[in-house]
Amino acid sequence: MQMLDLVHRRRREGLETIMLCAGQPPTGAPQAALDAAAASLHESTLGYTEVVGDRELREIIATWHSQTYGVDTSADNIVITTGSSGGFVASFLAVLDHGDAVALSCPGYPAYRNILESLGARVIDLVCDADTRFQPTAAMLEALPEADRPKAVIVTSPGNPTGTIIDPAELERIARWCEDNGAVLISDEDYHGMSFGRELASARQFSDRAIVVGTLSKYFSMTGWRVGWLIVPDELLTPIENLQASLSLCAPAISQVAGRAAFGAPARAELDGHIERYRAARAVFLEELPKIGFDRFADPDGGLYLWVDVSSVTDDSEAWCKELVDAIGVALAPGVDFDPINGHKWVRLTLCAPEEETREACRRLGRYLVR
Ligand SMILES: Cc1ncc(COP(=O)(O)O)c(C=O)c1O
Repeated sequence: MQMLDLVHRRRREGLETIMLCAGQPPTGAPQAALDAAAASLHESTLGYTEVVGDRELREIIATWHSQTYGVDTSADNIVITTGSSGGFVASFLAVLDHGDAVALSCPGYPAYRNILESLGARVIDLVCDADTRFQPTAAMLEALPEADRPKAVIVTSPGNPTGTIIDPAELERIARWCEDNGAVLISDEDYHGMSFGRELASARQFSDRAIVVGTLSKYFSMTGWRVGWLIVPDELLTPIENLQASLSLCAPAISQVAGRAAFGAPARAELDGHIERYRAARAVFLEELPKIGFDRFADPDGGLYLWVDVSSVTDDSEAWCKELVDAIGVALAPGVDFDPINGHKWVRLTLCAPEEETREACRRLGRYLVR
């Protein structure tokens, strides 16, 4: 967020900046979703929806999930939340007691840690590197000392900041481990729909005890509309519904109406086009980064990011990123937020900029590093 502030300040001062630090699609909602939202302004009172969300949207998500992953997902198990962020708060509150341990990958999405710590949970870092393509494994969970056995395990595939995908067989092993050890698997599937070829599995294929988290923010390109969802096991439905009733009452009604249209064929064709742009940006980075001396990075299987080792030029990625914005007008995200252990040697780039801007950012970086 500090980097974003810097970018906004520079832009106010008329200084052009290539933004490779933001974690959101550069595109708006698909046309069909916009049309549905516009019509609903006149056709609906847009009051509170059901606490667990608009029934029609839940049916649509259940059908989409069942067809995509070959599982039998019921709308009854779906809770619509205010972005997936709202879903994390509700699930953590439903599953955890004060002091419970939660295992998650490091590097990983920082909000899990921030929310968990604010709720008094204990974070157990599963330190991941290139050996496991920056993803946790069942073997890592098995190796935890008895005192650190988690009450919940969070996995994110494709990952943020790494973009790597957990192989379906490994996800199955993790799901089994969680069932065998009394831990709730929370599978953040926010970047599903965004694979560059590798197979993506849903945790619900392997365990109906897992909580699956989804969102309209990423593939569906509706970040500010604040709609996410949870697919929850039967035993957690009532606690999560009760929490949701007090935490938010419901997700934004107009966004839920628009969300229905985002799953239709015309919207999906538009959204699949965005993936091609991310794929093109990824190809530029894979070609250019090694040429400018950065040859250690997580090769993204999907999602929106690329995680790069910059230890050859700095051991303070935060200071280095600030230096880069001022010197060459390229904004990257320092790794410290994503990885409190080694993040000072890493940065996260996004695949969201247009191909030519991505190329220009690499050119500027290359020139700066030579100097
Ligand atoms: C891995 C991951 N999970 C969850 C979120 C939160 O998304 P939202 O609340 O917009 O659904 C993000 C946002 O960047 C993310 O990267």
